[in-house]
Amino acid sequence: MERTFAIIKPNAFADGNSGKILARIYEEGFKVVGLKKLYLSKVEAEGFYYVHRERPFFGELTEFMSSGPCIAMVLEADNAIQKWRDLMGATNPAQAAEGTLRRQFGKSVGENATHGSDAPETAAFEIGYFFSGLELL
Ligand code: RTP
Ligand code: MG
Repeated sequence: MERTFAIIKPNAFADGNSGKILARIYEEGFKVVGLKKLYLSKVEAEGFYYVHRERPFFGELTEFMSSGPCIAMVLEADNAIQKWRDLMGATNPAQAAEGTLRRQFGKSVGENATHGSDAPETAAFEIGYFFSGLELL
């Protein structure tokens, strides 16, 4: 079993799509090990996306992620990191495959509905950024 870190981003939360996304998560066979609603500050979003600090879209990305509440989750499954990225689809919703969450709930490259860790090391950092061990029993 592997764990990954996921976010229902502010656009999907504001649109009332959190329930539909969670239903899909269960249907696809993930175990929800951790879950909480958060309203990130700009500084907290910058810390989370620290790896992207040099990217041209860093300001826009962290503004958006701190623009409203979101839901942070730890998901468990066999091959959870890749499985969750497959369910999310491509970063740009316009290029995401039919049946993926970003295709269904994303509005643009920025407002793309969900986040997922991209590797074991980033999953470990991201899970630890938002959850303590006691919250993941
Ligand atoms: P995420 O980290 O949110 O799961 O998305 P990802 O791996 O598919 O994409 P990544 O390259 O890690 O980019 C992080 C987030 O930055 C925004 N982005 N904007 N304007 C742009 O060209 C651009 N490129 C990326 C997206 O919201 C992406 O999810
Ligand atoms: Mg990423």
